[in-house]
Amino acid sequence: MSDHFAGMTALVTGASAGLGEEFARQLAARGVTRLALVARRADRLEALRAELAGPALRVDCFPADLAHEDAVTHLMSDLEAAGFAPDILINNAGFGDVGNFEDAEPAKLESMLAVNVVALTRLSRWAVPGMVERHRGWICNVGSSAGMLPLPQFAVYAATKAYVNSFSEALRLELRATGVKVLALCPGPVETEFGQVASRPDGKRKFSAPAALAVSKEDVVSQTLDAMAAGSARLIPGLAVRFPILLAESTPRWLMRPFFNLVSSRFRPESA
Ligand SMILES: NC(=O)c1ccc[n+]([C@@H]2O[C@H](COP(=O)([O-])OP(=O)(O)OC[C@H]3O[C@@H](n4cnc5c(N)ncnc54)[C@H](OP(=O)(O)O)[C@@H]3O)[C@@H](O)[C@H]2O)c1
Repeated sequence: MSDHFAGMTALVTGASAGLGEEFARQLAARGVTRLALVARRADRLEALRAELAGPALRVDCFPADLAHEDAVTHLMSDLEAAGFAPDILINNAGFGDVGNFEDAEPAKLESMLAVNVVALTRLSRWAVPGMVERHRGWICNVGSSAGMLPLPQFAVYAATKAYVNSFSEALRLELRATGVKVLALCPGPVETEFGQVASRPDGKRKFSAPAALAVSKEDVVSQTLDAMAAGSARLIPGLAVRFPILLAESTPRWLMRPFFNLVSSRFRPESA
């Protein structure tokens, strides 16, 4: 295991579950000396703090609902008041919503845009100037392979992740000569609480990670930290996901359209 991140400070959003919790654990194992954990569920953050904090690692919890503009503003000022300047920013908090667009709960869609797009952008904007000044920094924006294709039944989620993927690539180019590295992490299915949160309460559409494509959260995070240390632009963990996604990405859209039509007809047959 590389000690590339030893002695650094890291901010992880969405640290109460899934990939974010795993990022915190593996960053701790790689020798970061200060960790800031953000999510809504304060009890989970505290439990993780109790597990990870020690003489060589200070862990602070910042419970916040990133769907609210004011909460993001407060979070940034609380981080500053705590003297926290991240070398590493893991913009991981996010969620999805699966089902027909016209049945979606409007408030859930708005929160999704606020967390997946707006909070991620604001936290990057907040962190980048200090990183540029210190001539070092690593940002991992958690996008998704879902952001590389139009995804019926996941239309808004996929579009938020297309934003994350695109924003990250552009920001990386912009910061190329500054010592600040930006990685777009584009996972396929990973077994976390994501499916439960994305599924709708009416039970009509449930999302669960297809087993054949799933990569464990432990593997996703360790590959991501290695890719960040190497200064990679983008990571699609798992060959079973990477190969079809790269193929679809390099195929002209007009050639892919019949395939997309076929996929979407599974959800809403022509006669419906
Ligand atoms: N799992 C997959 O198949 C998959 C695939 C591709 C990309 N991703 C992306 O990976 C990231 C992590 O997801 P996961 O799979 O680890 O899902 P997860 O287990 O549901 O974890 C999501 C995390 O985001 C936090 N979060 C959600 N809404 C929030 C809000 N309003 N304010 C603050 N924190 C919030 C949650 O914390 P609280 O609920 O405590 O606030 C939780 O810690 C997401 O961006 C997701 O889109 C996941």
